[in-house]
Amino acid sequence: MNILVTGGTGYIGSHTCVALLEAGHSVIVADNLCNSKVDIVDKIKQITNKKIAFYQIDVTDEVAVESIFSKHYLDGVIHLAGLKAVGESVEKPLAYYYNNIVSTMVLSKVCQKYGVRKFVFSSSATVYGDNTVPFNEKMNLLPTTNPYGETKAMCERILTDIVKVNPSFSVSLLRYFNPVGAHESGLIGEAPTGIPNNLMPYITQVAKGQLDKLKVFGSEYPTVDGTGVRDYIHVLDLAEGHVSALDNLIEGVHIFNLGTGQGTSVLELLKAFEEANGIEVPYEIVNRRPGDIASCYADVSKAKQKLGWAAKRDIKAMCRDAWRFEKNYKELEGTNRIG
Ligand code: NAD
Ligand code: UFG
Repeated sequence: MNILVTGGTGYIGSHTCVALLEAGHSVIVADNLCNSKVDIVDKIKQITNKKIAFYQIDVTDEVAVESIFSKHYLDGVIHLAGLKAVGESVEKPLAYYYNNIVSTMVLSKVCQKYGVRKFVFSSSATVYGDNTVPFNEKMNLLPTTNPYGETKAMCERILTDIVKVNPSFSVSLLRYFNPVGAHESGLIGEAPTGIPNNLMPYITQVAKGQLDKLKVFGSEYPTVDGTGVRDYIHVLDLAEGHVSALDNLIEGVHIFNLGTGQGTSVLELLKAFEEANGIEVPYEIVNRRPGDIASCYADVSKAKQKLGWAAKRDIKAMCRDAWRFEKNYKELEGTNRIG
């Protein structure tokens, strides 16, 4: 299939491009590079030894999006482009609502016009809010605590309403849990700008000596050791989940959790990282981070049953691959920045 991947130079997008190319699909990337670098296109080619087309466009720009559809025959779209920093979304709600919602509307509109029927959307476990774990796809969604989360819930609703009147449109809403790790080549991975918001890149930067110590946000949650529990998934497993979603796409809207089904606490992840890489990571317990929930992990039975997909890589592999990328990134920094 010929697949347009929006946000294809980003963290999840770049791994998804690799998985698509390795599965024999052709890939066209659209990204405005607001949170990634163009070098990634070459890294993807280097890993896969395959060609990809790249367009530096903003996917809220309908004319620019249409120019790609008129140039390439497309079988489907995987829409990963989006702004994703939870805290920033509280500071800049309009930028988040505009970018994430308008891009989804523009892409689905142009898909309708060109008869492109397959659409895979990057949603998030955040739409479950503070439900009871494990989260399953039939649960009623609860309000999220920030505009970022609301954009995901709204895009899900918009796509669902579009399908109601266009029943041949096939939409997969993928609710990602917590992607971590990197490609085993160490060439692509997660390279946030500034101080990381997320746990794994924070840990790898402390391990590298770039940050002083990890701040563990809260130790009195009702969890195994009092720290927050999440469902960490290797980004390559997540990437392969997109290929399965695309291969099994049927008419209508279909929601899938992409996680491992296993909850891991902050202190458990920290310990796993130390053991996997033989490095000590200093930490201190601080106050809870506003908006955090105690536990978030997936019921993954639907993806297993309907897509024949399940995550294969364990926490050790996630920690090892995240650290390999961090070390490699440092070596390349200043000469050939990637990530
Ligand atoms: P990322 O920032 O690394 O990648 C997103 C990419 O989209 C970037 O390359 C950015 O330049 C591009 N982009 C943003 N707005 C654009 C626009 N208007 N036009 C063109 N390109 C644009 O983020 P990621 O972690 O790879 O996330 C990918 C998607 O998955 C996002 O939609 C995000 O909300 C969603 N998601 C991520 C996580 C996570 O923990 N990383 C969890 C759940 C859902
Ligand atoms: N944490 C710390 N210290 C840190 C960073 C995080 O203790 O420096 C803790 C958090 O309190 C939480 C856990 O580590 O318990 C994971 O936090 P992350 O920030 O890595 O991830 P979140 O679960 O908060 O959110 C992420 C993405 C969201 C996405 C969600 C989906 O940032 O965009 O996963 O589950 F919606």
